[in-house]
Amino acid sequence: MRELENEFGTRKKKEDMKPVRKAVFPVAGLGTRFLPATKAMPKEMLPVVDKPLIQYAVEEATAAGIRQMIFITGRHKRSIEDHFDRMPELEAELAAKGKDDLLAIVKDISPETDVFIYIRQPEPLGLGHAVLCAEPAVGDEPFAVILADDLIDAGQPGIGQLMQAREARGGGNVVAVEDVPREDTSRYGIVRSTAIDDRTSRVAHIVEKPAPADAPSTLAVLGRYVLEPGIFEHLRTIPRGSGGEIQLTDAIEQMVPAGTTYAYRYAGKRFDCGSKQGFLDATVHFARKAGYAI
Ligand code: G1P
Repeated sequence: MRELENEFGTRKKKEDMKPVRKAVFPVAGLGTRFLPATKAMPKEMLPVVDKPLIQYAVEEATAAGIRQMIFITGRHKRSIEDHFDRMPELEAELAAKGKDDLLAIVKDISPETDVFIYIRQPEPLGLGHAVLCAEPAVGDEPFAVILADDLIDAGQPGIGQLMQAREARGGGNVVAVEDVPREDTSRYGIVRSTAIDDRTSRVAHIVEKPAPADAPSTLAVLGRYVLEPGIFEHLRTIPRGSGGEIQLTDAIEQMVPAGTTYAYRYAGKRFDCGSKQGFLDATVHFARKAGYAI
C-alpha cells in the first residue's frame, strides 16, 4: 500500500484519497468581448477550427478520466446542452449516407460513459458563486474546475496534470499557474508560493487581480483547479471581492493557512481565448496542427 506524506507529516494512504470524478464548467458569462458574435450564441460555442471551445474543455476532462461534467449555465446557453445531447436524426442521416467518419465525430461529442449535468446560475455573481452553484451535484468529494476560455494544448491533459500533482501531495487544492508579464497581473489570480519541486509549490498567498505594483509575484492562475469540497463552506461565507463578485480566489485564500493548497506549473501551451488575440493565436495553432496551410 503506497503512503503519501504531506507537509505536516500527516500520512495518508493513496487508497484512502477520494478520486476526482467530477468537473465543473462555469459557462454563464456573457462573452461581451466577442460581440456581435456572442449576442445570440454562447462564447463557449465559438469554434477553434471546427470544434467549440467547450468541447475542448470537456475532452480534456474525459482524457483525465473524469466522467461527470457539471455545467453552470445561464440564459442563452441552451445550445451548449444541445451540443452535448444526442441527435438521432442527424446520426441516422449520416449513417444512411455512409458518412461513417462524420458519424463517429458526432457520436464522440458525448460518450455514453459520460454524464452531463446542467445547473442554472440565477444571477451573475462571479466565478466563486458559479462554483458554489455546483455544490448539490459535487457533494462531499474533490472536483475539478475548468474554464473553457483558457484553452490548453498539452501532451497530458492540463487537468490530469493537476490531479496527479494532488495525488502526489496526498490531497489538497491545486491551481494551475504560469508566469505572466507584470503588466498583466490585474487580469488574473496571482499567487505567492514556496517551491516544493520543479513544478509544484505551496501557496502562501493568493489574491484576485492585483494591480502590477501590488502583485505579490507574476505567477498567475490559469483556468484549471482541483479543489477539496471544503471550498464550498468558504464560498458561502466570504464577502464580495474584486468587481463586487464572489471570487473563487478569495475562498482559496481562506484555505491557504491549512498548508495544503498548491500551485502547479503545468506543461503545455495555453491560449487566452477570452481575448480576440488569444483566440486567433489558438485558431492558427490548431489549424496548423490539423495540417492547414496558414
Ligand atoms: C478568472 C479567475 C482568475 C483567473 C482567471 C484565469 O478570471 O477569477 O483568478 O486567473 O479566471 O483565466 P476571469 O478571467 O473570469 O476574469
